[in-house]
Amino acid sequence: MKRKVTKAVFPVAGLGTRFLPATKSVPKEIMTLVDRPLIQYAIDEARAAGITEFIFVTSRGKSALEDYFDNAPELEAELRRKNKTELMDTLKTTYMDSGAIAYIRQHRPMGLGHAVWCARRLIGNEPFAVILPDDVIAADKPCLAQMVEAYEETGGCMVAAMRVPDEMTSSYGILDADSGTVDRKVQVRGMVEKPASGEAPSDLAVIGRYILTPDVMNTLDSAKAGAGGEVQLTDAIAEEIVNGRLVHGFRFEGERFDCGSKAGFLQATVSFALARPELNEEFSRFLSDIVPVARAAE
Ligand code: G1P
Repeated sequence: MKRKVTKAVFPVAGLGTRFLPATKSVPKEIMTLVDRPLIQYAIDEARAAGITEFIFVTSRGKSALEDYFDNAPELEAELRRKNKTELMDTLKTTYMDSGAIAYIRQHRPMGLGHAVWCARRLIGNEPFAVILPDDVIAADKPCLAQMVEAYEETGGCMVAAMRVPDEMTSSYGILDADSGTVDRKVQVRGMVEKPASGEAPSDLAVIGRYILTPDVMNTLDSAKAGAGGEVQLTDAIAEEIVNGRLVHGFRFEGERFDCGSKAGFLQATVSFALARPELNEEFSRFLSDIVPVARAAE
């Protein structure tokens, strides 16, 4: 029997070295696109998919993340005194019901598979989602909600998937699956973590949204280090297929930004700013002035 997906794991233990020096004291998940931290986008997407329990796998130096989701009584009192109801509503999007959020420490950076495994006791015997906040997806219907709907038909494991050019396969988990099909759900025959260009089984890359069965946790119990000397989530999901269980790729609808890279983060910033009615006019005027100048300088 398929069960409803109500728990999500957010692996947020990474050091974020690509964004030093900012990430020396600010967790990268707190870095903002316009005015909302990356983690807020991830939480909102989870909520929209029906998630009610949020499990953060953190590490040292991430306490700003815990504070971010706590109540802020002084700030609230001040906003109330000044009658700033809109800002109050914004503030409330960061609040969590008591007991809805849990923080688990990953003591050493041993890979994404290991980070997810750290949440095993809170997951228990239920299917669960994994959201990587670095992957921000702009979509009319949020990506995880699209996946939950598809999962209700398929069961098993499901990973978000997107086509990538051959020279990019070494940055992703790659599916052995038919990427040319019209159906958004694609059955997966195998998975490889970060294959070299020319050696990938297809052009379908795993993007940071997963719906996983608790069997994956059992596999991770005895998982060995894979690509890059880390315990790979990709390998544990691939093991499901070897054991005869169903894994689907889901080609989501929406635009994905790789906010783990500076270029992707900047693209997301520009795109999200343009999508804001209060910023659109001024910001697009600025861009149309500046882009020809940048082109001329090339
Ligand atoms: C992780 C996963 C990889 C996946 C990617 C999506 O890699 O290991 O399979 O394709 O996220 O963003 P990372 O980007 O953490 O190196």
